[in-house]
Amino acid sequence: MVVVVPPPSRQTNLALLLLLAGAFVTGWLAFGVGAWPESRVVAVVHGILGLGILVLVPWKAVIVRRGLRRRRRHAPAVAFAVVVAVGLFAGIVHATLGPLEVSGVSALDVHVALAVVAVPLLLLHVVGRRQRPRTTDLSRRTALRAIAIGGTAALAYGAVEATTSTAHLPGARRRATGSYEVGSGAPSTMPVTQWFTDAVPRVDLASFQLLVTRPGASTLRLSHSELLAMSGATRSEVLDCTGGWWAEQTWRGVPLDALLGTPDHGSIAVRSMTGYTRHFPPHDAPALLLATQVGGAPLSPGHGAPVRLVAPGRRGFWWVKWVEQVSVEPQPWWSQSPFPLQ
Ligand code: HEM
Ligand code: HEM
Repeated sequence: MVVVVPPPSRQTNLALLLLLAGAFVTGWLAFGVGAWPESRVVAVVHGILGLGILVLVPWKAVIVRRGLRRRRRHAPAVAFAVVVAVGLFAGIVHATLGPLEVSGVSALDVHVALAVVAVPLLLLHVVGRRQRPRTTDLSRRTALRAIAIGGTAALAYGAVEATTSTAHLPGARRRATGSYEVGSGAPSTMPVTQWFTDAVPRVDLASFQLLVTRPGASTLRLSHSELLAMSGATRSEVLDCTGGWWAEQTWRGVPLDALLGTPDHGSIAVRSMTGYTRHFPPHDAPALLLATQVGGAPLSPGHGAPVRLVAPGRRGFWWVKWVEQVSVEPQPWWSQSPFPLQ
């Protein structure tokens, strides 16, 4: 029989550091890898790392009790503990009870916001309480502990998933990305969300022009009515928002390769009139659609009127709204920030 000896405090703290860093990275990775069924792997690893923190609670509780008895300022450490606990709770609520919202703020919004707030608090916590790894940490005993903790976290993840499914909780209906269906086939009930730095602009349809910039050719200027006349392609695609919802709609518009061809170098830049821009690999051109209509009606301002991008398989922040310019640019698509900064 293998007996797993409880880890010493230093190892518990280092394990918490690894789990927090791993959960933070895989959380953003889950947003970055797109809305494919395989994306589930990232969400599962993320959930196991996050639940691993809860597995360590009995040992961390001993450290906390000892730490609280010392004469030092405890407020930042206690604030950090509250942020981590509420953040974890919000993540589990989103994955099990569904897209609960209070005053327009969802459990997932709280989860991601608190994960970001936790970073400076963690740095503050760790700076004053440095825990050095030792070469003796690379032992059979540590490996057994890591396997035991990882295995318990994986079992906990399986137990949460099984309970969600047998109790028919809303979480059983979430997509590979963890998103919930809202407003499929009924665009007017689909949420209006944009990247937190962006806002719905006012657009004058009569003076609107879409600029199409191609290398070695003059810039094409298309009015709204010209775009509507060219909107001959219809595609049924799922918009999966990082805000935690998805909707399948029938989009009608102009395939991007009809305007730009399929460039053989650089990237395709799609720019909103708000300045928000995303760069795509050139070979994406045939899959991308500049939509002027959804569900048989013109787009609403909140959903990107007069024209928005449909980017199949990519998360919502790639579906640029209020598109003002499409162009072929020399910079490779992967050289942009993985998430919008403006
Ligand atoms: C889930 C993440 C964590 C939470 C919620 C947390 C919370 C706390 C709290 C509330 C205390 C007691 C209050 C105090 O000492 O002022 C404490 C103590 C401590 N923590 Fe953390 N901590 C976490 C992760 C870490 C990490 C990653 C490290 C270092 C790598 C660390 C190192 C320590 C040390 C050394 C003590 C003091 C123990 C003593 O003085 O005896 N903690 N932690
Ligand atoms: C260190 C910080 C983080 C921790 C400890 C953490 C932990 C967790 C946990 C325990 C769950 C529930 C998993 C389940 O029971 O299925 C979860 C879900 C989720 N988290 Fe995080 N998370 C962190 C940061 C992030 C970040 C930064 C993002 C995104 C940018 C993120 C996105 C998500 C998403 C989308 C879900 C739902 C996944 C699903 O439904 O399967 N998390 N997280």
